[in-house]
Amino acid sequence: MPTIRDVAEAAGVSPSTVSHVINQTRHVSEDTRQRVMDAMAALDYHPNRLARSLRNRRTHTLGVLLPNSANPFFAQVLLGIEAACFDYGYNVILGNANDDPERELAYLDVLLSKQVDGVLLVSTGAYDEALDFLATRSAPVVMVDRSPGAGYEDLQIDTVFTDNERGGMLATRYLLRLGHRRVGCISGPSRLTSSADRVVGYRQALTEAGIRVDEDLIVSGDFQHESGYRACRQLLELPEPPTALFVCNDLMAVGALCAVHEVGLNVPADVSVIGFDDIPLASYTVPRLTTIAQPARDLGRVAVDLMVQRLSDRESPARHERLPVTLLERDSCGPMRGE
Ligand code: RIB
Repeated sequence: MPTIRDVAEAAGVSPSTVSHVINQTRHVSEDTRQRVMDAMAALDYHPNRLARSLRNRRTHTLGVLLPNSANPFFAQVLLGIEAACFDYGYNVILGNANDDPERELAYLDVLLSKQVDGVLLVSTGAYDEALDFLATRSAPVVMVDRSPGAGYEDLQIDTVFTDNERGGMLATRYLLRLGHRRVGCISGPSRLTSSADRVVGYRQALTEAGIRVDEDLIVSGDFQHESGYRACRQLLELPEPPTALFVCNDLMAVGALCAVHEVGLNVPADVSVIGFDDIPLASYTVPRLTTIAQPARDLGRVAVDLMVQRLSDRESPARHERLPVTLLERDSCGPMRGE
């Protein structure tokens, strides 16, 4: 196996000159550079990337920690991350916390032990513990999709989220424009800022329309299908059931569509349902799901952009990117019966 010394001898230069040519860490004359390149080709020498990376303390590998890789939304975020990493020449090591805060922290330790250059984190909600852990290891982190909560701008961490509060407001205003006044809300876990902010938008839209918020119309789910189904059944069994539902993610909205059908009602004739995310499945439900579309792949791509910039400039102030959401009207919402 040829070594850097063999290349240096063949090219008539020092090993450090060969290193400078490989790592482009110092200017060398074109003649010297070509001699080194010719010697590397003749000896079929390939620099040991891991050894080089350990010296430079860069592995060009990013750790990605997702809360639940079975959720199609995060599959879209990951596609954005992978595409951007490929363009930058980075590798990815993926961890799935499976919605478990303990597992999130364990995975952070594993990722850092693998010498990743930084971590892209979509938290399960264990924000403080995760950020404290990462701070002790001085590992750059970009928080994606879920904010650590009020005051995060004071933390020196780069973040990229979507405008969840506006999304909740857009969805609710849309249902109010259809004439609905009893608008239910099926939220995700209250510890998750992405869900909590959507509910804030829901409340603001009702209040600005002069409608008192009925707390019985707000039921918490866990972002999975089953919880959306159960929450919808609970709301439809109220003495005065809602005629429209704002559901804080598409997986729960799919569960809600099933629940409405199972009690013999029709979407949208009897109950309108709007979701959040725009996962690919939303285009194929019956009826097709109206939803608030999140730019999931852009979330992933921007997260990588932030991390690569951070790795080249550790001192600049933290950056906070906020991506817009859009209302995607399909077939699952209609006018209030009798409107
Ligand atoms: O579907 C999973 C939800 O959790 C998405 O709405 C995403 O924003 C994340 O917070």
